[in-house]
Amino acid sequence: MNTAVSPMIKIEKTNNSKINEVDFDNLPFGQHLSDHMFVCDYKNGKWQQPHIVPYQNISLDPSSKIFHYGQSVFEGMKAYKDARGQVLLFRPLDNQNRLNISAKRLAIPELPEEYFMEGLKALLKLDSDWIPTSDGSSLYIRPFIFATGNGFHASPADTYKFIIACSPSGAYFSGKLKVLIEEKYSRSANGGVGFAKAGGNYAGQFYPTQLAVEKGYQQVIWTDDNTHEYIEEAGAMNIFMRINDTLITGPTSDRILDGITRKSVITIAKDEGIKVEVRKIKVKEVIEASNNGSLKEMFGSGTAAVISPITGFGYRDNDFELPEIENSYAALIKKRITDIQYNRAEDKFGWRYIVE
Ligand code: PLP
Ligand code: COI
Repeated sequence: MNTAVSPMIKIEKTNNSKINEVDFDNLPFGQHLSDHMFVCDYKNGKWQQPHIVPYQNISLDPSSKIFHYGQSVFEGMKAYKDARGQVLLFRPLDNQNRLNISAKRLAIPELPEEYFMEGLKALLKLDSDWIPTSDGSSLYIRPFIFATGNGFHASPADTYKFIIACSPSGAYFSGKLKVLIEEKYSRSANGGVGFAKAGGNYAGQFYPTQLAVEKGYQQVIWTDDNTHEYIEEAGAMNIFMRINDTLITGPTSDRILDGITRKSVITIAKDEGIKVEVRKIKVKEVIEASNNGSLKEMFGSGTAAVISPITGFGYRDNDFELPEIENSYAALIKKRITDIQYNRAEDKFGWRYIVE
């Protein structure tokens, strides 16, 4: 990875801001795009001069490899504004690092450090008015790299584009979150790309998720592809189970995304004195715990989803309800994380990043 480069970013500002078209009191997730985007092209074996330009369409040759072979990786992060208007990120270097882990697996050239953080900071400075301040909302940030190289040969492209686009967003889920434990389809397999944030991972989930939605669920809970006996993760979240007073989540692997929220949950739960077990968890154990009343909570964790309590789950032809409990671990941990993100509490783990 080339870390010696300190790119000068060329900035072209919009003279046609769309900010007044957005109702910041009713923000959907990921629908509105801010005024600018950061763009950097890879060609001739290196990343080129980065630009910030007005948010706009891009034009690609129909034979671009992204369309045919799905060479694309992305990240998801958020910018927050505190009560004084200071702009904050949460563990952004972990996103930068993970983008390169994903890129490597998809044979995409890694991105020098400066391009990611310098580009992101410059973009946030320009579009800081787009960071919402209402409770639970933030500026969702989508850095992504995709193959632009032309031709139908099934081989890695020789040109790529890195873009960072931003969307002022509210909650990812609204209402109850019921999930279906999936036994037929798989999201990932050993040796595959499940640990990477590869675009195709999500495309492969849409059809099984549609089937689950038709049955009245919002998300699929993926089980291991080999035996379907173990709980792995949800569509866009890692997953936690509370059995009695122990919080359990599966270990990361080739098949599971190493979620930044997941590791923050583990650290905070331990800090709260909660017993945490990172171990394989059988569907059978969760069903038994639900039947005997020891399954107290289930929740998903992710940048978009934050901490999303699961209200019930389906398994084969049976539905299981989760009890509504007071003082849930989900609520406690969500408060601890969001208080750090919005600069309302001490940042004892050094996760907050101030954008200056
Ligand atoms: N698992 C998957 C498949 C995801 O898409 C996400 C979202 O980014 C997560 C887990 C949670 O990861 P993070 O907490 O880093 O956002
Ligand atoms: C995120 O949580 O940032 C994600 O990438 C989830 C996304 C698929 C909406």
